[in-house]
Amino acid sequence: MCGIIGYRGSRDATAVVLEGLKKLEYRGYDSFGVASLAVNKLVVFKQVGAISDFGYADMPLTRTNLAVGHTRWATHGAVTTANAHPQLSNDGKIAVLHNGIIDNWEALRQLLVHEGFTFSSGTDTEVIPNLIQLYISKGYAFHDAMRTTLQHLHGSYAVIVLHEDFDEIAFAKVGSPLLVGRGDNEFFIASDLSAFAKYTTNVVVLPDFHYGFITSNVSLFSLDSESRVEIPYQTIAVDVDEEEDPAIQQYMLKEIMEQPRVLLRAIDQSKDRFELLAEIIRKSQKVFFTGCGTSFHAGLAASYFFASVAKINCTPFLSSETGKLVEFFDDKSVLIALSQSGETADVLDAVKLAKNRGAVVIALVNVQGTTLPLLADHTLYLRAGVERCVLSTKTFTAQLGLLYLLAHTVAGNFSLAHTILNQLAASIQEVLITQAAVIRQVAEKTYNNSDYFIIGRDFASACAVEGALKIKEVSYIHAEGFAGGELKHGTLALVRESIPTVVLVTPDTRTRILSNAMEVKSRKGCIIGVDSLPNSVFDYFIQIPHVSEGLSLLLCIPLQLLAYNLAILRGCDPDKPRNLAKSVTVQ
Ligand code: F6R
Repeated sequence: MCGIIGYRGSRDATAVVLEGLKKLEYRGYDSFGVASLAVNKLVVFKQVGAISDFGYADMPLTRTNLAVGHTRWATHGAVTTANAHPQLSNDGKIAVLHNGIIDNWEALRQLLVHEGFTFSSGTDTEVIPNLIQLYISKGYAFHDAMRTTLQHLHGSYAVIVLHEDFDEIAFAKVGSPLLVGRGDNEFFIASDLSAFAKYTTNVVVLPDFHYGFITSNVSLFSLDSESRVEIPYQTIAVDVDEEEDPAIQQYMLKEIMEQPRVLLRAIDQSKDRFELLAEIIRKSQKVFFTGCGTSFHAGLAASYFFASVAKINCTPFLSSETGKLVEFFDDKSVLIALSQSGETADVLDAVKLAKNRGAVVIALVNVQGTTLPLLADHTLYLRAGVERCVLSTKTFTAQLGLLYLLAHTVAGNFSLAHTILNQLAASIQEVLITQAAVIRQVAEKTYNNSDYFIIGRDFASACAVEGALKIKEVSYIHAEGFAGGELKHGTLALVRESIPTVVLVTPDTRTRILSNAMEVKSRKGCIIGVDSLPNSVFDYFIQIPHVSEGLSLLLCIPLQLLAYNLAILRGCDPDKPRNLAKSVTVQ
């Protein structure tokens, strides 16, 4: 959450930073700020709103060779210009941009107030520039003041610091992502590679508890040992599947439509890689899936086909609920960690706990150059390309495809699964093309409802949960997805006339899920069937192709399209739902 970028070099730094901030907007978009440094003069511009709504000409900024920027997702302090970053020191000389949370900010603030400092924002961040100022006033050199300040911070942070008197960018990282990129006599620093990948992909992925300075070169230091460290640059192969197309108004729809191609590219990876992971899984005694939100739902769905295909009983758990499970991790365990961003704080924590207990960690990640692959023993990349919409759609399909392939590889059927997945890509395409109009019609008839229910059984229950998440986060309709059998154990009490219930039907569960549909129908609820066959209980029928295997990959596609249409009809921004950010780097 929150995106930060800095640049020092011969280009127009302000332009580079503004362009980078637009790429980082998915990390937070309630406000933004830019600071540039020219001839020992710090110029700051901050604004409430999304950076994409503003251009260079809207800001009182000029060409310089050193600039930094921040796009915010509020944690501490309301969405106001005062709370946007950079946060400045009392003397106005030091600017700090921060992603993360300083846990001991209140204690530090009191200390600073005691020293005569005043505060003009509600942020935790504002203590950082003031602490640096405090140490400088006590005679510390800038670098020493920076290090001493960092040693007082508890919590998570990626920070960029500018001091008006120094032609350099100071930075530090604990728990929030930060990469340094090296070009030709120029350096970039950002929360993720996409912010500057256009210029260079030669980077240092900063480990936690490190800080440094960008001058005409980059110096890196360990916060623990206080000594200088050398970390080699690596060139990250970026899957560039698209240059940002200014004509694209809504990435959600674009990303939904891309899914057949995304699935094919995800599974286009070496068989040996899957065989190696399958062998690790076969030799283990316990297999866990973890993730948050949509990534967790992919693990939940996968636990069904690992049971049926690989005959392995896996435990899916929400990363934020790792808690008491920790004691079950040991050196006979495999943890499969799922994350589009590779930076979700709860997932990283679960992985660290599992690793400490000796478990083998297999990561499924989309974004390269992120923290999760650094922690994992093995990584499978989703290869889904950049997902700009805050909602995960195409990465969910890539996750399911890879997990389906892995389950079959464990069972010794890699090639068969590969063939099935190739066919499924065509089936997804068919749903996208043939069902778009029906789904739009369903949305038109139901978008005024306050509630939406989705039911399924077996892996379709995991798809129901995922579909409900899509609907609620983008259209703000209250939606619940759950196993159809649970209906009469509670939620049926909420069913009333015309409330829509989507029923996800699979051949194995048809009889029982249709009887659940009848329970809803008897209470005058409206039934939207997602099935390969029509049925008289359906008020609306979304037809999916009949496939003998891998149905879970198809079931969410109409739900994604439904969520998109509901959002549009309700006037919601499908790419930037309120209060959400794509990369959740705080717990
Ligand atoms: C929902 C969504 C979120 C993410 C969750 C985990 O559409 O996008 O629920 O799935 O925040 O994010 P990653 O996969 O980046 O760990």
